[in-house]
Amino acid sequence: MKILIAKTAGFCMGVRRAVEMVLDAPRKHETPIFTYGPLIHNPQVLGLLKEKGITVINDIPDQGNGTVLIRAHGVPPQAKDKLGKAGFTVVDATCPRVIRVQTIIKKHANQGYETIIIGDRDHPEVIGLLGYAEEKGHVAGTLKDLEALPAFDKAIIVAQTTQNTVFFESVKKWGLQKFPHYKIFNTICDSTEKRQNEVKELTASVDSMIVVGGHSSGNTQRLAEIAQLSGKPAYHIETEAELDMKAIASVRTIGITAGASTPNWIIKRIYRALETLPLNKGQHWHRFFFALRRTLLLTNIYVSLGAG
Ligand code: F3S
Repeated sequence: MKILIAKTAGFCMGVRRAVEMVLDAPRKHETPIFTYGPLIHNPQVLGLLKEKGITVINDIPDQGNGTVLIRAHGVPPQAKDKLGKAGFTVVDATCPRVIRVQTIIKKHANQGYETIIIGDRDHPEVIGLLGYAEEKGHVAGTLKDLEALPAFDKAIIVAQTTQNTVFFESVKKWGLQKFPHYKIFNTICDSTEKRQNEVKELTASVDSMIVVGGHSSGNTQRLAEIAQLSGKPAYHIETEAELDMKAIASVRTIGITAGASTPNWIIKRIYRALETLPLNKGQHWHRFFFALRRTLLLTNIYVSLGAG
């Protein structure tokens, strides 16, 4: 089996930065160390952090001590204030690209604009972004959701950083046709865009795709959806334990990509598990003919050199 790995598979800049910040935190900041909500959407990485004594808090107590790291997806500003008031040292590990979207929303909300966020209503990044819209925030996951919104005098449209780029293009078209006075900001991060483009290209050159990442990771889900749209078999798995070896046993070329919160060691384990698959009949013949062709080619060179 030929295995091709996407160049963009694995941690993006924002996730790597957040993980490094939390691992450094016990040396730099007051302990105990907490994260407000899961730092990233990967259960294996979260398990490692837990082993290092880093605890997740989901509710903010009235009083606390130690340090709380804000996750890569960001949180509403009200949550940051509340953590500070409770007595925690707050260290912000929000990805700079998410901070850019928060800043756009905040600036326009101050000027009276409504904010339409194209994203998943329940995703922590979107919940955080809504906090910057000051009661003037709306979330749309589909064009139908957009149609259902009232017409606003002043509005901006932004995207969750991990949105599907193709879908956002259709949103832009919709906005330009129906509400040309709305301001549209493409806030999909370049890391997401590169990954989505690469998964399209890679899927075209393989028989089957493996997409690795947390089942609750939005950007991984999006990669799996793009791969599945091609009509080829594509599997979203978290670890090698979920590999369906039977389903892929006869595949000649398989591609691997991974979400932005998937660590390299999980990708490597999946690669190794695929390497152990025995060759099927067709692949034996393929190897036999390849070896034969190479032998004939070498013989020709040998003969043409006059050595035969
Ligand atoms: Fe940041 Fe983009 Fe990663 S927004 S967390 S660099 S997917």
